[in-house]
Amino acid sequence: MRITLGVTGGVAAYKSAELVRRLQQEGHSVQVVMTRAACEFVTPLTFAALSGQKVITDLFAKSSTGEANLESAIEHIAVAQRTDLLVVAPATADTLAKFARGLADDFLSTLYLASTAPVIVAPAMNVNMWQHAATQENLAVLKARGVHVVEPNAGYLACGMIGPGRLAELDEILRAVQGVAQAKRDLAGETLLVTAGPTCEDIDPVRYITNRSSGKMGYAVAEAGARRGAKVILITGPTALATPEGVERVDVRTAEEMLAAARKHFPACSLAIFAAAVADYRPAKPASSKIKRSKEALTIRLEPNTDILATLAKEKGERIVVGFAAETEQVAENARKKLAQKNADLVVANDVTAEGAGFDHDTNIVTLFSRDGRDLPLPRMSKAEVAERILDEAVRIRAVLRSKPATHRAGG
Ligand code: CTP
Repeated sequence: MRITLGVTGGVAAYKSAELVRRLQQEGHSVQVVMTRAACEFVTPLTFAALSGQKVITDLFAKSSTGEANLESAIEHIAVAQRTDLLVVAPATADTLAKFARGLADDFLSTLYLASTAPVIVAPAMNVNMWQHAATQENLAVLKARGVHVVEPNAGYLACGMIGPGRLAELDEILRAVQGVAQAKRDLAGETLLVTAGPTCEDIDPVRYITNRSSGKMGYAVAEAGARRGAKVILITGPTALATPEGVERVDVRTAEEMLAAARKHFPACSLAIFAAAVADYRPAKPASSKIKRSKEALTIRLEPNTDILATLAKEKGERIVVGFAAETEQVAENARKKLAQKNADLVVANDVTAEGAGFDHDTNIVTLFSRDGRDLPLPRMSKAEVAERILDEAVRIRAVLRSKPATHRAGG
C-alpha cells in the first residue's frame, strides 16, 4: 500500500523513524508528512533518509525566490489521491482536535480532509491531556467516523507522570495497518481483466483515428484490483500512464488487436471490466503508403469494429462483466439499454458533459446500473475511488448471483 505517515509533535516522534522502516519491510511505500512541531523533535532529514522520499512539512513550501508555488499549494490533493492509508503516529491532542473539527491549517490536517483513504491514529500525550474530556470527545467523533484508534499504553511518560499516554507499541500499530490492508483483499484468487485507453485505427502508415480517452479510469480499476489481491491483466491502447504495481500489461493499438488480446485472456478471468474507449469504426482499407495531398476532397470509408464487450459477454458463464457508458443525454435510459444489449452485469455510466467528469479528468461522476436492478449514483470523486466502488459493486453482484446462479447463466 501507499501509506502516508503523519508525524506530529511529541517526544514519541523518534519512534516513528523505526515505524517507517517496519512499514517498508512489510512492502509498503511510505510518504512522511511532518507538522511544524514534529520538526522540533526530529529532523525531516531523518525521515527523508529512511523513506527515500521528500518529507512534506509545509502547506506552502517556498521556492528559492521566497514565493509559494502552485505545485506546493495543491500538493495535499495529489498526496491525498495517491494515499491508500493515512497513519498518524504519534498523534497529538492538537492533531486529534483538528481532525475532529475539520480544521485545515497545515499540510497534515488539510490532507486528512482531502483524503478518502482509511485513517489510523496512534495518540501519544501527557496523561491528563489524554484523559481530558475534550480529547476523549474528539476521539469519539473520530471513531464514529471510522478512524481506527490505536490506544496509547499506560506507563512512564516523558513528562514524569505515570498513566495512559505512551505511544502504542509499533507492533500494535503494524497490526492495525495489516487489518486495514487485509480488509480489502477481497479479490484474492480472482483474475481481473481490464481494457483501458483509446484505440488507434490506421488511415495510412502515419495517420490514424483515435479519441480523447486518457486511460485513467481503466488504470485506476487495474490498480485497485491488484491492491485487493486479484491477478490483473490490463489490455491497454496507447496511453501516457505508467503500469500500476503488480499488473500484467498487454499493449495494443487497434480495436482488432484489443479484441484478439481480450479473447485470449477472457477465458482465464473471473471478472472483466471493459473501460477502454474502443473506436466504433476503422478505415475500411488503410493505405499501405502515405496518402499524398491533393486538391480533391478525400473520403475515407469506415467500417464498424466488433464490440469486444458484447462479443465476449455472450459467453461469460459465471464471470462478472462490467461495461462503461459515456452519455450526453438520457443517461439512465441509455445505460440500462447497454446493460441488457451487451449482457453485462454492471454498467458504469457518466454524463460526459458534466463538470469534473469523463475524459482526461482525475475525477468522475458516475452512476452504477446493476443487473439486479440497483442504481447507485455516486458523487464527484477521484477515479481511484470510483474504481473501488466499481469493484465493491461487482463483488456484491457476484454474491447476489451466487445465491441464485440459474438466472445468471440464462444471459440476455
Ligand atoms: N466497447 C467494446 N468494444 C467496442 C465498443 C465498446 O468493448 N468496439 C465497450 C467499452 O469498453 C465500454 C462499452 O462497450 O465498456 C461502451 O459501449 P458503447 O456502446 O461503445 O458505448 P458508447 O460509445 O457510449 O456508445 P454510443 O456511442 O452508442 O453511445
